[in-house]
Amino acid sequence: MRLIFLGPPGAGKGTQARILEHRFGAKQLSTGDILRRHRADRTALGERAEGYMQRGDLVPDRLIVDMVGHELESYPAGFIMDGFPRTVAQAQSFDALLASKGWRLDAVVLFDADRATLVSRLGGRWSNPRNGRTYNALTNPPIVAGVDDEDGGPLIQRVDDLPETVAKRLDVYDEQTRPLIEYYRKTGKLFEVDGLQSVDDVARAILHAIGMEQAR
Ligand code: AP5
Ligand code: MG
Repeated sequence: MRLIFLGPPGAGKGTQARILEHRFGAKQLSTGDILRRHRADRTALGERAEGYMQRGDLVPDRLIVDMVGHELESYPAGFIMDGFPRTVAQAQSFDALLASKGWRLDAVVLFDADRATLVSRLGGRWSNPRNGRTYNALTNPPIVAGVDDEDGGPLIQRVDDLPETVAKRLDVYDEQTRPLIEYYRKTGKLFEVDGLQSVDDVARAILHAIGMEQAR
């Protein structure tokens, strides 16, 4: 399947993409994770992206669209776009890219959550930079604090999860990404899920919304 997960920072896009990618026969493509890898590897793209990410701004469209076009070559069977597109210009470029490959989008899943919950979730997030897995000190702690359950390595707190950067990222979402809701609603492929439910219930709601499982 070819899916987009759309929603504000902290809504649970990455958490659900990791849970559901096998079920959908699709690979998670997180532009945030890919950019963080470029930064860790000190590539030219990573160095150009760094300042934008640290401030909580979006990385320029052209850099992102080129990066996704390159990454997509290794995703022939399907994908879950996690954090892309984030502007109308990115969505238009993505439409053109999909059309050039003869691929259709199956669905766009919109995660709904209020700002106070998002701020609280991001403040408590711990991430594994090696595989993108996230935990939450309050809602989903690892077995041992600061250690990943799967690979036993250290967890980190993202620098852009500091309160002032979180506020900026949420404002940027409202200004630049929220217009995509209407953009995709017009395609008839937008499905909204309540991101405030438990992680398991959100996964169930996504499957139900796109017709893959009965809700309880
Ligand atoms: P990116 O890494 O994509 O960050 P984001 O969109 O800001 O989203 P997050 O990763 O913060 O949230 P999420 O929805 O994945 O939540 P998660 O599942 O982790 O982007 C970072 C930066 O890169 C951007 O600011 C920008 O600079 C740049 N960038 C990336 N893509 C770009 C693009 N396309 N264009 C331009 N620039 C781009 O969950 C959050 C927390 O909540 C975790 O602790 C988790 O355990 C917990 N949680 C999740 N679900 C639940 C639940 N149901 N109940 C309770 N807790 C939950
Ligand atoms: Mg994420």
